[in-house]
Amino acid sequence: MNVAIDGPAGAGKSTIAKLVAKKLGLVYVDTGAMYRAVAIYLLDSGIDVNDKAAVAEKCKGANVDIKYEDGIQNVYLNGTNVTGRLREEAVGNTASVTSPVPEVRAQIFSLQRGLAERGGVIMDGRDIGTVVMPDADVKIYLTASSEVRATRRVKELQEKGEAANFEEIKRDIEERDHRDMTREISPLKQADDAILVDTSDMTIDQVVEKICSLCK
Ligand code: DC
Repeated sequence: MNVAIDGPAGAGKSTIAKLVAKKLGLVYVDTGAMYRAVAIYLLDSGIDVNDKAAVAEKCKGANVDIKYEDGIQNVYLNGTNVTGRLREEAVGNTASVTSPVPEVRAQIFSLQRGLAERGGVIMDGRDIGTVVMPDADVKIYLTASSEVRATRRVKELQEKGEAANFEEIKRDIEERDHRDMTREISPLKQADDAILVDTSDMTIDQVVEKICSLCK
């Protein structure tokens, strides 16, 4: 069985997908992490990440690989484990700017398809149910209001002892939504056969229960 989970930034996709994976014995594939790894490469290279032609050319040097170590997805960039840097705010914001570039998507697509073809995966992202796994057995569109998503992110940062400004984070989330939903290639949208799950007023356990029951 393959499960696709799409939705906007901060909807809880990775938290939920990890828990569902454990319950159903599936491999969790975080596709955002792949775009984030390319973003790290582009940031470190010092190019202007808003320059689409430069991104299209430079991204060819980013070789992203995924390895499962003790059941955890580790992301390697040109042989170096970059998993620890993936969640930095600058990396997420850059990934949102560089992921629409067709050359970046083409590079990541074959990695995603290879994992999907092995089967038994729960894959999350923006275009999984629509483009990467249009044949998935279960498709979920997971969302929550931008206020709720920003509140969750602030809490997450505070727990890590990092400074967090609610208004700034909410604005970043809304800008990211806009970019993800309006881009030309593989925009974020609910697949026709995806089930909408709005987690704004749900606990994590309730969401996991709901998705597991949809997979039966
Ligand atoms: O889910 P995330 O925040 O880790 O994703 C980082 C960025 O990567 C996000 O802004 C959009 C992009 N992305 C994408 O275009 N397609 C996917 N399947 C997953 C993520």
